[in-house]
Amino acid sequence: MLRCNATAIAEDRRKGRKRQLASFFAMAFGVAIATDAAAAEYAHGGLVAKLLAGEYSRRGADTCLGCHDEEEPFPTLDVFKTVHGHPAVPGSPFEMSGGSSFPAGLQCEACHGPVGDHARSILAEGVDREPMVNFGDRGNARPALQNGLCLGCHANYERAHWAGSAHEAAGLACADCHVVHDPVDAVRTRDTQARACAACHRNVVADAFKRSAHPMRDNQLVCRDCHDPHGGGTEALVVESTVNETCLGCHAELRGPFLWEHAPVVEDCGICHMPHGSNQPALLVRRAPQLCQGCHSSAGHRSFALAPDDLATGRASAFLLANACLNCHFAVHGSNHPSGNLFRR
Ligand code: HEC
Ligand code: HEC
Ligand code: HEC
Ligand code: HEC
Ligand code: HEC
Ligand code: HEC
Ligand code: HEC
Ligand code: HEC
Ligand code: HEC
Ligand code: HEC
Repeated sequence: MLRCNATAIAEDRRKGRKRQLASFFAMAFGVAIATDAAAAEYAHGGLVAKLLAGEYSRRGADTCLGCHDEEEPFPTLDVFKTVHGHPAVPGSPFEMSGGSSFPAGLQCEACHGPVGDHARSILAEGVDREPMVNFGDRGNARPALQNGLCLGCHANYERAHWAGSAHEAAGLACADCHVVHDPVDAVRTRDTQARACAACHRNVVADAFKRSAHPMRDNQLVCRDCHDPHGGGTEALVVESTVNETCLGCHAELRGPFLWEHAPVVEDCGICHMPHGSNQPALLVRRAPQLCQGCHSSAGHRSFALAPDDLATGRASAFLLANACLNCHFAVHGSNHPSGNLFRR
């Protein structure tokens, strides 16, 4: 069995930590506790009260590993194969020096909260074991509380926009995406990220299999290339400040400035393109001519299907065949030609 340097959590540190508790939890999720009258009731078995009481174990992980060992189906011990279980990582739960700042160095309890009476070896008949905080699928506390425990160490720049983001607002827990007790965190690995997101966004991954799609099928492009899952205060969590900036980050040749700009292109690429995939060519929402005629009058320009016999010239219509409007107006994203005002050159 793995031995941890748990005795490093000396008595005086425990006392110091208890004093830090009030301010720490107030920072991490105090708002949730203070404003949420139902907090005590959801906190199954009084988890909030238990966190505030702060009865940390003296022996840290050694306490836990007496019962949660390699016999158990859940891969408890694999946490030692991750950065969180590494004693040399500053600020990590298992930081050897005993923790430079709360809650670092508290080992398992840095995430699961203080042990309290959970580790009792003998329980009175009919008494349930006092719970520990659990996460994600197995969560037994509201997301704000679960996340507060992670954000106690991770409320840095990368998570600056987490509060109020679509995922936070939808009640996601960090552990709905991240796997902590496993060296492989699928959501952070390019090859498996789409699958991890698809647990909830199946439709998007299905779009990647349409006739025209960004190359997501083989993970050349992944969700993270365009989205910030932690939130950035942007529409649809895109990585740049707007959808267009996000697209132009890769399709720089279309950035312009153009002498003749096409108004919808400057406004939003999404007017004509589906970002994930489409059954039309070039990720288009519709094909030309219908695409164009959603905005442009068909007066003077053919826009309905006619067989050659129906046409005065007896020839097929250039307005409809092949690229339709784009046969002539091919510079649809803008033109730098002095007479490119109609995007024909
Ligand atoms: C960095 C935070 C973190 C640390 C450190 C950590 N855990 Fe966990 N633990 C989690 C998360 C998150 C889950 C939920 C896992 C999941 O659903 O995939 C979890 C799940 C568990 C479970 C599963 C309970 C069940 O539902 O079956 C046990 C048991 C557990 N942890 C024990 C421990 C022990 C013992 C340690 C110390 C050796 C430890 N954990 C260290 C975050 C942590
Ligand atoms: C005396 C044995 C024992 C010790 C010591 C122990 N646990 Fe548990 N733990 C259990 C049992 C049994 C369960 C399953 C509880 C249940 O099914 O009601 C459990 C469940 C859990 C869970 C799942 C959430 C829950 O409460 O059901 C987590 C997380 C957990 N333990 C973490 C820890 C951590 C962290 C430590 C060390 C600080 C620890 N345990 C020490 C026996 C123990
Ligand atoms: C005691 C502090 C602490 C707590 C609590 C904590 N972490 Fe961490 N975590 C760290 C440190 C330190 C690192 C390594 C440096 C970094 O990436 O910021 C880390 C790294 C990570 C990473 C990147 C892993 C890697 O391999 O680079 C993820 C993902 C993560 N933590 C998620 C979580 C989640 C989810 C929780 C809550 C269940 C959590 N952390 C709780 C301190 C903590
Ligand atoms: C919707 C899924 C999702 C949720 C929810 C989520 N993350 Fe992440 N997280 C990711 C992805 C994807 C990455 C990889 C980012 C990259 O490649 O730059 C990541 C990276 C990380 C990292 C390592 C790199 C960094 O940004 O520092 C940490 C730490 C982390 N997340 C912590 C958290 C915490 C804490 C929460 C909860 C407040 C959380 N995450 C919620 C998907 C998620
Ligand atoms: C090439 C960039 C790009 C990639 C790659 C990408 N997205 Fe998007 N996604 C966008 C843009 C842009 C929007 C906003 C569309 C709009 O509202 O006009 C969006 C919207 C969304 C939406 C909200 C609207 C909807 O369609 O349901 C979800 C959810 C989403 N993306 C998830 C994902 C997931 C999951 C992946 C990875 C499998 C992914 N995206 C890959 C650019 C991208
Ligand atoms: C546990 C489920 C879950 C997972 C996993 C998940 N999401 Fe989401 N996501 C949601 C929910 C719920 C919403 C809110 C849906 C809504 O408002 O319609 C959302 C919304 C979004 C949006 C749209 C935001 C907006 O403003 O419209 C994007 C983009 C997105 N997720 C991307 C991702 C990416 C990328 C991943 C993987 C890194 C991911 N999600 C993983 C549940 C999830
Ligand atoms: C991270 C880089 C990246 C971002 C961001 C990006 N793209 Fe792409 N895009 C690509 C790659 C790679 C291809 C495939 C090129 C190829 O197959 O030659 C592509 C192809 C395309 C195609 C042609 C598809 C086809 O079937 O011919 C269109 C249209 C397109 N992107 C539009 C967009 C739009 C609109 C956005 C913003 C929502 C966007 N792209 C954002 C990398 C990106
Ligand atoms: C008015 C509709 C419209 C808007 C808005 C639009 N596009 Fe397009 N885009 C098209 C059409 C039509 C095609 C197909 C061109 C073809 O088949 O020759 C296309 C093709 C593309 C292609 C693939 C072929 C190429 O030219 O490389 C990319 C990449 C692309 N667009 C990116 C963008 C980006 C990025 C934006 C936003 C800055 C954008 N588009 C805005 C109509 C539009
Ligand atoms: C979302 C609406 C919209 C769509 C879709 C659209 N356009 Fe436009 N287009 C405009 C606007 C607005 C202008 C600027 C009109 C102005 O300045 O009077 C414009 C200007 C033009 C012009 C220059 C003519 C002029 O009067 O300045 C041409 C040519 C043109 N569009 C062709 C196309 C083609 C071809 C398509 C299809 C690939 C298309 N447009 C799709 C809105 C649209
Ligand atoms: C065979 C070449 C050709 C095709 C195909 C074509 N156009 Fe044109 N379009 C022109 C020419 C030439 C002009 C300039 C006419 C003029 O100055 O009188 C023009 C002018 C325009 C204008 C400027 C306003 C106007 O009516 O004078 C718009 C908008 C326009 N076209 C949209 C479209 C749309 C939408 C389609 C597809 C249904 C389309 N075009 C197909 C050649 C074409």
